[in-house]
Amino acid sequence: MTSLYPETYARWKRDPTAFWDEAAEAIDWFQPVGKVFDPDMGAYGRWFAGATCNTCFNCVDRHVEAGHGARTALIYDSPVTGTVATFAYDDLLAQVNALAHVLRTQGVGKGDRVIIYMPMVPEAIFAMLACARLGAIHSVVFGGFAARELATRIDDAAPKFIVSASCGIETSRVVAYKPLLDEAIAMASAKPEGCLILQRDRLTCDLVPGRDIDYAETVGAALASGATTECVPVLATDPLYILYTSGTTGQPKGVVRDNGGHMVALKWTMEHHYDVRPGETFWAASDVGWVVGHSYICYAPLLHGCATVLYEGKPVGTPDAGAFWRVIADHKVVALFTAPTAFRAIKKEDPSGALIGDYDLSAFRTLFLAGERSDPATITWAQANLDRPVVDHWWQTETGWPMSGNPAGLGLLPVKPGSPGVPMPGYEIDVLDDAGHAVPRGTLGNIVCKLPLPPSGFPTLWNAEARFRQAYLDEFPGYYATSDAGIMDEDGYVFIMARTDDIINVAGHRLSTGAMEEVIASHADIAECAVVGMADTLKGQLPIGFFVTSAGVDRSEAEVERELVALVREKIGPVAAFKTAIAVPSLPKTRSGKVVRGTMQKIADGTDWQMPATIDDPSSLDDIAAALKARGLIG
Ligand code: COA
Ligand code: AMP
Repeated sequence: MTSLYPETYARWKRDPTAFWDEAAEAIDWFQPVGKVFDPDMGAYGRWFAGATCNTCFNCVDRHVEAGHGARTALIYDSPVTGTVATFAYDDLLAQVNALAHVLRTQGVGKGDRVIIYMPMVPEAIFAMLACARLGAIHSVVFGGFAARELATRIDDAAPKFIVSASCGIETSRVVAYKPLLDEAIAMASAKPEGCLILQRDRLTCDLVPGRDIDYAETVGAALASGATTECVPVLATDPLYILYTSGTTGQPKGVVRDNGGHMVALKWTMEHHYDVRPGETFWAASDVGWVVGHSYICYAPLLHGCATVLYEGKPVGTPDAGAFWRVIADHKVVALFTAPTAFRAIKKEDPSGALIGDYDLSAFRTLFLAGERSDPATITWAQANLDRPVVDHWWQTETGWPMSGNPAGLGLLPVKPGSPGVPMPGYEIDVLDDAGHAVPRGTLGNIVCKLPLPPSGFPTLWNAEARFRQAYLDEFPGYYATSDAGIMDEDGYVFIMARTDDIINVAGHRLSTGAMEEVIASHADIAECAVVGMADTLKGQLPIGFFVTSAGVDRSEAEVERELVALVREKIGPVAAFKTAIAVPSLPKTRSGKVVRGTMQKIADGTDWQMPATIDDPSSLDDIAAALKARGLIG
């Protein structure tokens, strides 16, 4: 079939307002859309200003009202607890109504912030939707972050309430969430008025009298009484959620997502990019703590009337490398979305894909990969073993949906391994040099998107408008700076090659090396340090720390390393996957004192590197190479 992509993209470009006005018809509005785009609002304009709506209504109520209450909405598949539970849209509505009732009784209302610190359990989805129902703004914090990271988010968002659980369950261990929550609240200056705690059988916790309330007890009572809570109308431009993501400092950025534009864009992608129909099962194997989890575990599949899979397990080890195929077969998944690292993990354990043959994958149509660069070897392995289209697509927390991709719903374009496809309608992507001039096709440069960002694009950072402008808008006037570097080829395909800032990508998780350096530098024995991302065959990148001890420190390097590894785990969390810190006599710097992290990374990756002309002491780079060699990290 010839792809409808070229004419669809051209139609958007000719008249973006008409394009999004038409897409907005797929959403039920309380106050209909008047002005599709207001260029005078916000930093670069706002979508659907003045219209009112409710995201929970569009995800849940309207399907029930349309007679689809018996249709499956949510499938909780948890190999770590041996549970599979299915919720029809009717059940989802009852659960969300009850939880919203409890939250409202606790004083949560429109505009209040609610932090959700939860493992991959259905109650996390109920909590997101219950907040949306009340017009409250949720902020989900990933469970792999430590107490200090949670405290930073509590202080920034100042939540009225927190929804959490007693524990999360990893393959190797049970993670007690409650002590982390208590520690974070103790550390934070902004104190929540209360916490709703889900007790899980595997590890229960004590509740703080006067502050904590029990989820099962209170929500159970609301369910039993049939309590309902109306969907509070909010402006399309009101925030639905804040999602914190790594920036170039230890202070995470609170990406703000609106209600109206978010719904319009996500609903459009389900049909046109992911090629999924209402009633079918969509699975994003991610975590609710990441943007992929927000958009494609929770909101988009439900907006579209699909069944969504919430998977509490891993691609390998729960129990084996056939886990993904088992879930696809059991729930008739038509489209799977995950990070390439999951496929690298599967490929490592089952190189010939032998386990795939044990399952009936007849419903499965397309594999979508994103979150990090898809190496051609992983794409080729997946294509060959699944014998289905494998689509790489590129996006960011800031946008909430793909900026580039291969729109299966419009008809697939030829796949170019190594490229996450072509710009989606809504995104005019350019590649600029550092002075802001367009570079010729095929030349590496800064990837930027012409303003305005399309619906769902973030309008600001929470409590940080100046940082928003400075980090994203000021460098290339008229454009959104993505902080990704790459090229666009003659056919308009984008290739994402690297970040232009200090962000690294570890197992599809976005992490700041600057934040790790801040933690290491806080150790009493450290004079200076640098963290770089080193290529890793499984996780894409892994952080490697280099440190110089202060004069007079006379302790074993191994002992200091152990303390630094423990410190990063304690302050940032296990998700940082920080396991290596190497002592060096000095850090390589330019004559003006800048640490040459880029060159250090090239040495660690074993790629070609040149001595920077401005290097102060060339032997310091030899010391880095020697230290890596001594550890067996390079040949
Ligand atoms: N709560 C608490 N701890 C968590 C956690 C959570 N929700 N998620 C991860 N962690 C911990 C892990 O247990 C691990 O701890 P460890 O150092 O004690 O082993 C650490 O954080 C690092 O986690 P991760 O990077 O996920 O490594 P892993 O070895 O557990 O699994 C993969 C590796 C590839 C299997 C895994 O990263 C994966 O499934 N990735 C899939 C894609 C994905 O989720 N991408 C996100 C964006 S799309
Ligand atoms: P996050 O905001 O956590 O989703 O991370 C966004 C970053 O992940 C992007 O800026 C890219 O650096 C990287 N990324 C996401 N998807 C891709 C992809 N398909 N190819 C290459 N890099 C990607």
